[in-house]
Amino acid sequence: MPNLKSTLKTPESAAHICYILNANAKGSISKELKKYKNYLRTKMKSEKHQLLRFVESDVHIVVLLIVKETKKSHSAYIDSLRKLGVQLLQKFNNEKAVDVYLTNPDEGMSEPEYLSILEGMILGSYQFDKYKSKKEVETVKNIHITGNNRPKSASLKELSAVCQATMTARDLVNEPVITLNAPQLGREIVKLGKKTGFTTKIYNKADIVRMKMGGLLGVNQGSIDPPIFAVMEWKPPKSKNKNPYILVGKGVVYDTGGNNIKIGTYMPTMKSDMGGAAAVIGTMMAVSSAKLPIHVIGLVPSTDNRIGLNALVPDDIITMHDGTTVEVLNTDAEGRLILGDALSFAKKYKPELVIDLATLTGAAAAITGSFGSAFMGTAHDDVKNQLKESGDLVYERLAEMPFWDEYEDLLKSNVADLKNIGGPTGGAMTAGKFLQHFTDYPWIHIDIAGPAFIDKTMGYRKAGGTGVGVRLLFHFLKSKSVK
Ligand code: BES
Ligand code: ZN
Ligand code: ZN
Repeated sequence: MPNLKSTLKTPESAAHICYILNANAKGSISKELKKYKNYLRTKMKSEKHQLLRFVESDVHIVVLLIVKETKKSHSAYIDSLRKLGVQLLQKFNNEKAVDVYLTNPDEGMSEPEYLSILEGMILGSYQFDKYKSKKEVETVKNIHITGNNRPKSASLKELSAVCQATMTARDLVNEPVITLNAPQLGREIVKLGKKTGFTTKIYNKADIVRMKMGGLLGVNQGSIDPPIFAVMEWKPPKSKNKNPYILVGKGVVYDTGGNNIKIGTYMPTMKSDMGGAAAVIGTMMAVSSAKLPIHVIGLVPSTDNRIGLNALVPDDIITMHDGTTVEVLNTDAEGRLILGDALSFAKKYKPELVIDLATLTGAAAAITGSFGSAFMGTAHDDVKNQLKESGDLVYERLAEMPFWDEYEDLLKSNVADLKNIGGPTGGAMTAGKFLQHFTDYPWIHIDIAGPAFIDKTMGYRKAGGTGVGVRLLFHFLKSKSVK
């Protein structure tokens, strides 16, 4: 990941410079750019963002980046800057640049605009190449921001922390189960907590048996690796909230479907079924790195979902952590079983709000595609709207689902308190209703099945794990911590 460095002056020796110009800025063209004056004037009139490359001598390469506010929504404009950031990085990588200098001579960039370009450059630099004998080429090591109009150092530090956390979440998703089973995930969480400052308690199988988490144990029955239940905490001395915010992440390190085994093309990519857990871990990293004055707890129930001699079979009835009995009619609807235990565990904290993130249903993915996430829940509309607003700004958008009582009726079982599947339709909502049964506090469920893992690179979201949720939750919690 490139480092961000802030200094007033661009050194004479700088080989790779990017002048960022805002076509909407009022200022006149600065003296360094006088020689391009006429050319620039015509380019500025164009409707589009532009990257213009000039070679001024053997070693001196200048890129002019012209930014133009579009007629689209503000959030779409901000996101177009992130995408422009990736293109800029690629241009410099092609030049084999190591140190690049960015400056905004017309001072027409606001801090959020500037940070978005940098965010795109950093997130777009991500590569999961640890298993490639031949590494991809990435050359830019340092991004120097110079001139009078620079984002504040604290903002640059925060941006680095959030990008780092997003990339760690991507790494966790991209790591296959052969090297990241549940106990290994537990050890990773402890390591990451030590690095950024949150504390971790990993409950092992014996603890989970003692806590009677029958959902997590049931899903784990087909596995040869034990489950874990991770509790992460960031509790600064002067937190703004009396009761904690709790984040819960689905940590299915691999979902074969169990005895209802996934067929055809449905199984590959299921290493990403711990994308919710990765989002929670990444958020805990970002919140603790940035030392947000807010008390946050992260819960991750984790296991793989496999076939095995003792694996759950359809018809089994299990007893959850809170005593609810569940008739398991489909072993592939396992996420709700492990999350139900975590959600009832959360009750003891009397939380201000609980947000769970889960790659829970194909039905949610069918609704949103990879362009956003479906959400629902019992939290106040104001809270939902604030979360939605964070989603727009970081461009991890949220679409609210209907959450009618009738969906709950579809979970009635003849032999137990609940069954783990609903009818043939409304799958994202019946899954949500199943989870709601285990809550008694304001709660939001985000189904990230659509955006957690993508097949093809889209701008600063590289093919593979996207780290979705980290930037969303960080932005939301930050907005809560300044109030
Ligand atoms: N992990 C899957 C959901 C999923 C599907 C995530 C596609 C990402 C991409 C989940 O455990 C699952 O298998 N859900 C079933 C539920 C059904 C059996 C009620 C589904 O959505 O088909
Ligand atoms: Zn499943
Ligand atoms: Zn799953």
